Amino acid sequence: MLKTLYFNEKTMQLLLIDQVRIPETITYVACDTVEALITAIQGMVVRGAPAIGVAACFGCVLAANEVADTPTWREELAQKIDQLAQARPTAVNLSWACTHMLNHLHRHAPANPAQAKKLLLAEALRMEAKDITTNRAIGRFGATLLADGDCVLTHCNAGALATVAYGTALGVIRHAVADGKRIQVIADETRPLFQGARLTAQELLLDGIPVTVACDNACCLLMMQGRINRVVVGADRIAKNGDTANKIGTAGVAVLAHHFGIPFYVAAPLSTIDPTIATGKDIPIEERGRDEVACVNGKALVPEGVPVINYAFDVTPQAYISAIITEAGILTPPYDEAITKAFAGELC
Ligand code: MRU
Repeated sequence: MLKTLYFNEKTMQLLLIDQVRIPETITYVACDTVEALITAIQGMVVRGAPAIGVAACFGCVLAANEVADTPTWREELAQKIDQLAQARPTAVNLSWACTHMLNHLHRHAPANPAQAKKLLLAEALRMEAKDITTNRAIGRFGATLLADGDCVLTHCNAGALATVAYGTALGVIRHAVADGKRIQVIADETRPLFQGARLTAQELLLDGIPVTVACDNACCLLMMQGRINRVVVGADRIAKNGDTANKIGTAGVAVLAHHFGIPFYVAAPLSTIDPTIATGKDIPIEERGRDEVACVNGKALVPEGVPVINYAFDVTPQAYISAIITEAGILTPPYDEAITKAFAGELC
């Protein structure tokens, strides 16, 4: 299975698999400053909510490595971590991870940057390991919702590449396959950056799980033909009422699934739930550059001078979500109550 990131303690570098270049080639990009990591996050070298969260944890280590031991080192470190938290707005895992690391620092009150670096590194390594156990738990719960012979549609990439390893939505599929169920996957290509065609297809191919890529706009026909039994997607931010932000196009898939009576599942860790946001209306939606839509491989698709719309995410209303699969168990409506119970450890 592909490994999204590694931290090299000797060189103090975060190595990120370059997701822009998959499937053409599998190479790693080294980040040794917070600025380099911000560029990598904004440029989609590392992407996917849990992956950017864990990358940010290591980014906090890079930040501590950068600050000099002066009377203002604490403020400088906090400022760098704050800049990192704002690299992309929609996936709450990024700001959640930065807040978590800052709180960890405050709790332990290191005396200097060297102590802070040591403390943050140990916590980042713990968060890296925790991401994998969390995904495996999501997979275990989610696999119970899939039946032998199912054809599962997924949108974007919520796999090993979007996490440290194993994945959320693809973790559910991996677990069901490991349980002996025959599962086929249809991966939406996921315009404009093709995470489904490039990343989901590559991961599942390596795992030997049957995968077929379809254009995003084939979804309605495939559902109408009865070829899809379940939809499983990831999430970037889930509001307290269950409304879920995920890759642009997800909401359309959910509306269609609802229309055709196909269960639509969201698989995500509890850290993707933002209880400070009541409904999806308040989730900030990232808008990205024109060229992602207007050009492919440097070739113009849209006439010069014509503007494009490039929202990176949309919000699926909770009414279209059959269940939210977390590491604490399967949440069903009303999500407000289920989320409160999950955070209180009263689910499973
Ligand atoms: O813009 P991206 O590629 O970062 O968007 C990623 C997604 O929308 C994923 O589905 C989501 O982050 C869940 S990943 C487990």
